[in-house]
Amino acid sequence: MIVLGIETTCDETAAAVVERQDNGKGRILSNIVLSQTTEHAAFGGVVPEIAARAHVEMLDYIIAKAMAEAGKKFNEIDGVAAAAGPGLIGGVIVGLTTAKAIALVNEKPLLAVNHLEAHALTARLTDGTLFPYCLFLASGGHTQILAVLGVGNYVKLGSTVDDAIGEAFDKTAKLLGLGYPGGPLVEKEAASGNPQRFALPRPMAGKPNADFSLSGLKTALRLEAEKIAPISDEDVRDLCASFQQAIVDVVADRLRTGMKLFRERYGTPTALVAAGGVAANQTIRKTLHRIAFEVGTVLVVPPPELCTDNGAMIAWAGAERLALGLTDTLDTPPHARWPLSAEGAGRQPAAAPKPAAS
Ligand code: KG4
Ligand code: ZN
Repeated sequence: MIVLGIETTCDETAAAVVERQDNGKGRILSNIVLSQTTEHAAFGGVVPEIAARAHVEMLDYIIAKAMAEAGKKFNEIDGVAAAAGPGLIGGVIVGLTTAKAIALVNEKPLLAVNHLEAHALTARLTDGTLFPYCLFLASGGHTQILAVLGVGNYVKLGSTVDDAIGEAFDKTAKLLGLGYPGGPLVEKEAASGNPQRFALPRPMAGKPNADFSLSGLKTALRLEAEKIAPISDEDVRDLCASFQQAIVDVVADRLRTGMKLFRERYGTPTALVAAGGVAANQTIRKTLHRIAFEVGTVLVVPPPELCTDNGAMIAWAGAERLALGLTDTLDTPPHARWPLSAEGAGRQPAAAPKPAAS
């Protein structure tokens, strides 16, 4: 089964061709990702209108490149998958509409994939991870702990009530004048800073649910920086180290709670899977290793290019759904919000209301 996957929910224009064998194993035939980082850098974050326009300009070319690299023609694929949300709606519309056009013209099934579901299933493509497993997804837009029980069967154990972890890193970097994206820059400064110098809060620590809250941490950091202004290079390093340590402590506390909830309900997970750009952070990754070890499971982290947004994860989720006959109709709408909760569980988004017959 060969599926084309299209990803345009944020600031990556991406397309990939992935094969799913009958035994459930996957193989990436091509995976093209064009990042718009430079377009957004001056603004310290993703500008939705700029993102949507950049997707329109580049998507045809990226798809053609993915098909050419895979050595496939449209009549040789079995389905067309696109991320139908959640994400910046302009970009989602571009990707989903393009997928619909390719599916319609070539008479192929459409797979409207939930972007979070695609992150959740990537470990099955890269590592053949078996259900049930626990997913820690931490990117610029999402922070969630999910029980991944089967294709289309996901239960949210916890999520952020305000900022995502990557967003907190980005805002910290912006505040300290480090640049964008902030995560790697803050990590670099933190490496030679003093994590004990500033007493920052550990929001939500000890709460019985597995939710996160990060906006207070960001405010606390700003107040500390203002107190000692003008800040020196050493201050920046210490602020970054103290911030990163607070995040690490919060991740450890929240994940321990998430794992406890998982085990009470579903037993020991086959793995703790990490996804999203934040998983690139070495200090956070060490913590994830420790948590997995504590509960007697292993940590699975897909390679960085498959942890961050890409077309292969969309194609793979599409292939997993196609194998189960879970195809979507051409009137499937794009979604800015599309929770991957027990209720929403990876089902196809509700069709737009039909105009009343007259
Ligand atoms: O998954 P991703 O590439 O894109 C989406 O947000 O969808 O994640 C990007 C986010 C950014 O907020 C970036 O600052 C963060 O991941 N990030 C990191 C690191 N590398 C990327 N955060 C902390 N430490 C890092 N090394
Ligand atoms: Zn993502």
